[in-house]
Amino acid sequence: MDFLQLAKDRYSVRSFSDKKVEKEKLDYILEAGRVAPTACNNQPQRVLVVQSEEALAKWRRCTRCHFNEQLVLITCYDREQVWHRSYDGHDSGDVDASIVTTHQMLAAWEKGVGSTWIMFFDPDAVKAEFNLPDNIVPVSALAMGYAAEDAKPSDRHGSKKDAKETIIYDTF
Ligand SMILES: Cc1cc2nc3c(=O)[nH]c(=O)nc-3n(C[C@H](O)[C@H](O)[C@H](O)COP(=O)(O)O)c2cc1C
Repeated sequence: MDFLQLAKDRYSVRSFSDKKVEKEKLDYILEAGRVAPTACNNQPQRVLVVQSEEALAKWRRCTRCHFNEQLVLITCYDREQVWHRSYDGHDSGDVDASIVTTHQMLAAWEKGVGSTWIMFFDPDAVKAEFNLPDNIVPVSALAMGYAAEDAKPSDRHGSKKDAKETIIYDTF
């Protein structure tokens, strides 16, 4: 599929069927994230694959976004491996993790697997539920699965600002 068409067709799926995501598709999605660019190629991302009923129950205690997801990929970064900008110390962790998540989200769609990016979760709860050490920072989560029959794009999906509002050529 043409990339731009894939990017336009993808929407946040907020109702999943009970069908599990096959291992080969999961592996493909994880590989797409693994090869994502990161600052200085430090690859600080750590991806939690949440798929057992026990692990999914832990995830559901961390967020109010529940869509009958069958799989969740929680992308974190390692504070001890993340790149820092020398002149102000700012780190690339959120950006690195977000690029990984974006690769996963689009690769999933290509394979017919739906997802919704979840930021509305409690990172401290994720750390506690999944026993994460202090250097691991949860950034983003993809709730995933096959779209249920009633799944449909939200009104927000089709509502994009005009290019004139978001793209600035040469000068403000
Ligand atoms: C950084 C980020 C955080 C998001 N957090 C949530 C969330 O916590 N819960 C949710 O239901 N959707 C969340 N979304 C999905 C957005 O609401 C959705 O992408 C947006 O409304 C556009 O709709 P579309 O993805 O269907 O095109 C998030 C998306 C992004 C990129």
